[in-house]
Amino acid sequence: MTNDSAFLRACRGLGVPHTPVWFMRQAGRSLPEYRKIREGVGMLESCRRPDLVTEITLQPVRRHGVDAAILFSDIVVPLAAAGIDLDIVAGTGPVVAEPIRTAADVQRLRPLEPGDVSYVAEAVRLLVPELGATPLIGFAGAPFTLASYLVEGGPSRTYLKTKALMYGDPQLWHTLCGRLADITLAFLRVQVEAGVSAVQLFDSWAGALSEADYREYVLPHSARVLAGLADAGVPRIHFGVGTAVLLRAMGEAGADVVGVDWRTPLDRAAGIVGPDRSLQGNLDPAVLFAPWGVVEREARRVISEGRAARGHVFNLGHGVLPETDPDVLTRLVELIHSVSP
Ligand code: CP3
Repeated sequence: MTNDSAFLRACRGLGVPHTPVWFMRQAGRSLPEYRKIREGVGMLESCRRPDLVTEITLQPVRRHGVDAAILFSDIVVPLAAAGIDLDIVAGTGPVVAEPIRTAADVQRLRPLEPGDVSYVAEAVRLLVPELGATPLIGFAGAPFTLASYLVEGGPSRTYLKTKALMYGDPQLWHTLCGRLADITLAFLRVQVEAGVSAVQLFDSWAGALSEADYREYVLPHSARVLAGLADAGVPRIHFGVGTAVLLRAMGEAGADVVGVDWRTPLDRAAGIVGPDRSLQGNLDPAVLFAPWGVVEREARRVISEGRAARGHVFNLGHGVLPETDPDVLTRLVELIHSVSP
């Protein structure tokens, strides 16, 4: 049964037969079968077709034997569904036609109705029976990371316009993040009601902030999203990149599992998040390009450091890079499963 899966047990801090493993961006360009099925189909279009979503989500489960599937979608899907004119440009990421920077812009952000993303619910309903005992992870972008795309208009290195709004007009910033929290919570609830077994809230770019600013400008909104799922009975994973100084706060926001990038050893992270939360991570995705002996040594180190946590879900410290050799990922899954917890 799904509930007895190693993945859900580790999320809850229960004993496991082996350390569970899945990879952020396990579905995607590292797989030839993904590149083939996506030929001539735009990214957003593929997210709106339940048949494609189902097949792409299953591809890495079939190939690698990972312990969990993650729904194929994108963090900007609910924003587009709520009427924001945006596209996902290959090699760049999300690009927003009219960035949100003024009070009038924020007014354009309407709430998400479940019917706006019926194709996501449909894909989840198709996937759950196909997956059998393998849990399906639903996900959404957290308010800060979503705001960064909407305010910048696309990917950014400095988050200059985002921070200018945050510091320059805190009231408008909180209004914006409040609306984004509503959209995110509605999007996650659709996925939970359709049958996902866990959710991951991606605050990928929160590492751009100090802890004090994170607590003042971001945490209350992410906490509202996570609290809104408290009654759902599914583990809540909260992840960001470059978040060494934010790990405690990201746990306090209401996570059952804190995702850690490769910069912080898991034993140190365990001391920071405390005994009431599990950890997910944290092999450097670039290590997969090293000789196998190095991959094995680093993976064993991650498992050994992960023993300090209440529970440990093995993952990379960020997403699979498109150039990754998929056979290395398969071999890594076998290795993780062969090392007893
Ligand atoms: O396998 C999985 O992890 C599930 C699918 C997934 C995608 N996006 C598919 C995707 C998930 C979980 C996401 C989340 C997402 N999207 C995040 C948070 C995770 C993270 O990486 O920190 C962010 C920041 C985005 C925004 C986004 N969308 C970026 C930065 C990109 C990459 C741009 C590029 O081309 O390199 C996308 C596009 C995207 N989302 C792709 C995939 C498979 C690549 C597009 C393609 O295959 O054509």
